[in-house]
Amino acid sequence: MKKISTYQEYQDIYQKSIEHPELFWAEIAESFTWTKKWDKVLDWEFATPDVKWFVGGKLNITENCIDRHIETKGDQVALIWEPNDEKEPVKSYTYRQLLTQVSKFANVLKKMGVQKGDRVCIYLPMIPELAFATLACARIGAVHSIIFAGFSASSIRDRVEDAQAKFIITSDGMFRGSKNLNLKSIVDEAIADIAAVAHVLVINRTHEEIAWNKERDLKFDDLVKDVDDFCEAETMDSEDILFILYTSGSTGKPKGVVHTCGGYMVYAAYTFLQVFQYETGEIHWCTADIGWVTGHSYILYGPLANGATTLMFEGIPTYPDVDRFWKVCEKHRVNIFYTAPTAIRSLMAYGEEPVNRFDLSSIKKLGSVGEPINEEAYHWFDTHVGKGKCPIVDTWWQTETGGILITTLAGVTESKPSYAGYPMPGVKPCLVSPEGQPIEGNDKEGYLCIEFPWPSILRSTYGDHERCRINYFSTYPNRYFTGDGVYRDEIGRYRIIGRVDDVINVSGHRFGTAEIENAIGEDEAVIESAVVGFPHDIKGQGIYAFVILEPHHQANEETKKSIIQTITRVIGPIAKPDKLQFVPGLPKTRSGKIMRRILRKIAEGDTSNLGDISTLIDPSIVEIIKEDAKKIN
Ligand code: PRX
Repeated sequence: MKKISTYQEYQDIYQKSIEHPELFWAEIAESFTWTKKWDKVLDWEFATPDVKWFVGGKLNITENCIDRHIETKGDQVALIWEPNDEKEPVKSYTYRQLLTQVSKFANVLKKMGVQKGDRVCIYLPMIPELAFATLACARIGAVHSIIFAGFSASSIRDRVEDAQAKFIITSDGMFRGSKNLNLKSIVDEAIADIAAVAHVLVINRTHEEIAWNKERDLKFDDLVKDVDDFCEAETMDSEDILFILYTSGSTGKPKGVVHTCGGYMVYAAYTFLQVFQYETGEIHWCTADIGWVTGHSYILYGPLANGATTLMFEGIPTYPDVDRFWKVCEKHRVNIFYTAPTAIRSLMAYGEEPVNRFDLSSIKKLGSVGEPINEEAYHWFDTHVGKGKCPIVDTWWQTETGGILITTLAGVTESKPSYAGYPMPGVKPCLVSPEGQPIEGNDKEGYLCIEFPWPSILRSTYGDHERCRINYFSTYPNRYFTGDGVYRDEIGRYRIIGRVDDVINVSGHRFGTAEIENAIGEDEAVIESAVVGFPHDIKGQGIYAFVILEPHHQANEETKKSIIQTITRVIGPIAKPDKLQFVPGLPKTRSGKIMRRILRKIAEGDTSNLGDISTLIDPSIVEIIKEDAKKIN
């Protein structure tokens, strides 16, 4: 793959990629190792939808991410691991060592009965074994479904059941800042009633006491003792499932986004190289957790497919001190630093002094992902972390897109604060009005759709293809609907405005308002609730819950606490509302629909003009909610 090096070249390549997408992607795909070359580059239609890339091609993504580099980069470090506790030794693995670790893990999986096509749920902290486990699944053709280790037992249960997973990989516990969480007990609770889970593989991390189910639980350390240190890679079809990753939508429970081997590999690798302009020897640090798509594509698959050195960090930005990120950058001489606006905003609050304690001269490129980056955070990042000399890429994409779709290319195309930038080659964005009218031309705002498939577009939602069609392909026929609103400026740059559906983005984590409402509804004190997002200085958006209580429950702190505990139990601590207001009723129309627009305004504290409320059954409720909201902070 050749890097794009000028704006002009980007424009030429973009043009070519749009005119001849199949030729364009075939040329890129040529640079990978295929067991058998594809018969046809692309088969697609968005009605069903049915998208297939590199049809008939055979490959294994781990051969491309590891084996293929052994000859030239066998002794180069592939993975650096920085532990939560900085006194613990760093671990690093060369490509050769990575091959051994992944092979051994793959052989352990085989020994416990995992076969090609089986779904394996992984619930692990950010330890090297998370990387090995993920790649080991891919090596033997098992489908990994990683569950972020902040989700509750109930969330795990939903995912394990939906994916019909027979195997789970977890650890005894995890270290996170000064906390120590017992992951195994959470898994035990999650799968207590799921007979279909044959085995839980347990990795030792914290060495704490854990409950043990003799028939079901297996110790990784026992199984790994006598396995071979090489595992042949399973030959996969281009369209075999590589992974399922659950994400929230505007309706119902989180859905399992399906990505397949060939297209995902090509796109993750291509975008990593172009967006970050990766140069051999550079150290890339993406601060995401591998439990999110960012970690999948830009800690693991993208960097490794390019033979890069990728860093994974077990801890949090504020432990043991608020300077930890900068300390890690100095310690490992990080060259590319890719993080989230939330992290920047929260560290910004401590001022520049903690940043200035360290030599950040190694940093050459900066990246942002997950939510819009406000100008203040952008400038702080630029000035204090990048010292005014590093390009910043604001990368827009989604779990469903598998890789970055709209961005600038570091140092090649110019960035503008709060603008994601330009479409990647092969990506054809279009704007539509809410009614579905295409909006042509520049200096326009609309709903963002994509009108041609790129190689890592989601293929389905696991076990429910119709849901995939309805969610993404039915709102605007023949287009993939992103759920985001966007502005296209005079020269064709895109600025992401935010979600236009009932999805809220809290610290870069996605939640459906319905999902949180369902969790609140599980509390016995609650009759009904409505959840909306509101602007939050650090988190981007905060969660605001309006709750109606059963008559015999008191609207007090204790009830509030109990509801928050319920949400933590059902989803996890990351979904805790920032504000919770008890209300006597909700603003509903005669057809029973909650007028969220009004609640959003109240949550934003902007109640000067609430618009027409005459269609409400009881308009007086608005006044009460509005007045009570003033007391909530
Ligand atoms: O609203 C957009 C926002 O995050 C959503 C996707 O969330 P998720 O699937 O969890 O993936 C996050 C990481 C890829 C999008 O629909 N989003 C993501 N990146 C940006 C963004 N909003 C603005 N600017 C971004 N760079």
